[in-house]
Amino acid sequence: MDEPEVDDELIPNKRVARLKNLLYLNQLSKDEINQILDLSDHYLNSNEQHEFENLLKNQSIASLFFEPSTRTSASFQVAAKKLGAETILIDENKSSATKGETVIDTIRNLQAMGVRAFIIRTGDINLFGPLIDDVGPDTHLISAGESSVSHPTQGLLDLLTIRQEKGSFEGLKVVIMGDISHSRVARSLTEGLKIMNTGNVTLISPDEFKPDMANFPNTQFEEDPKQGLCDADVIVTLRVQKERIESDESSLSLEEYSNEYQLSQEKLALSKPDAIVMHPGPMNRGIEISNEVADGKQSVILKQVENGVAVRMAVLSEILKQ
Ligand code: CP
Repeated sequence: MDEPEVDDELIPNKRVARLKNLLYLNQLSKDEINQILDLSDHYLNSNEQHEFENLLKNQSIASLFFEPSTRTSASFQVAAKKLGAETILIDENKSSATKGETVIDTIRNLQAMGVRAFIIRTGDINLFGPLIDDVGPDTHLISAGESSVSHPTQGLLDLLTIRQEKGSFEGLKVVIMGDISHSRVARSLTEGLKIMNTGNVTLISPDEFKPDMANFPNTQFEEDPKQGLCDADVIVTLRVQKERIESDESSLSLEEYSNEYQLSQEKLALSKPDAIVMHPGPMNRGIEISNEVADGKQSVILKQVENGVAVRMAVLSEILKQ
């Protein structure tokens, strides 16, 4: 598949004009998403690191993670450092949040030290709304994952991976399979796929994990993986949130789940021969995905991780470049 053309006019000076904060993908237009993906491709393909290594020099960026993370947290740190920014990582468990300090007080103290951008992961769906007003006009907020509602940079890196592998979004059948109802990854990716006019987006899960379809416009639901996977171009498998499946919320056992819904080589064969397999991580190997598929030829899971750094560089530089 040909690489999408990168428009030199866009790089590195043209900005996504409205991007002050990034909380939800549906705040962006198709053109704005394409600009971020173009800039991400530019960062990935550039041999000229000096072009951007001082882009955010003298800027301090704080990451506040109130839920665990490996990929998102590390890749924002790597991305900020590649752009020359100083980074501060606040781990909730080792911070004064454990002594009762509120998020806004934490932010005000970091603002007093000169920090103007905050990357935040939270399980609290009521945090960002008031925070946008409270932080003031010169401070930027970037979501690193909000409860089961939004994970915009994951959505962007998923879109970038699909565009790189498939060339465009039109006419594709994209399948998202797993614990959809609890998944912020599914929410942001489906928002992005809708904006990019993707042909067919099918959600597959047992009834226990069927989401409120009002939150997933322009998608269809299929309980039977054999039907849903048929002719897929892209398969996104999602982590089974074991803590939920093992609770009273579900009558399904992990064994039953993996028998029916694990992406095995046999189920993968129902999709198109050139279908790609994605997973946002962390994976539960042997539950939602077999080892053979996770490490197989069609897997682009580590490509997604590599793209995560480039997308986060693009988001940080678009928001913070002066
Ligand atoms: N994909 C993702 O958000 O992974 P982490 O929870 O490790 O950041």
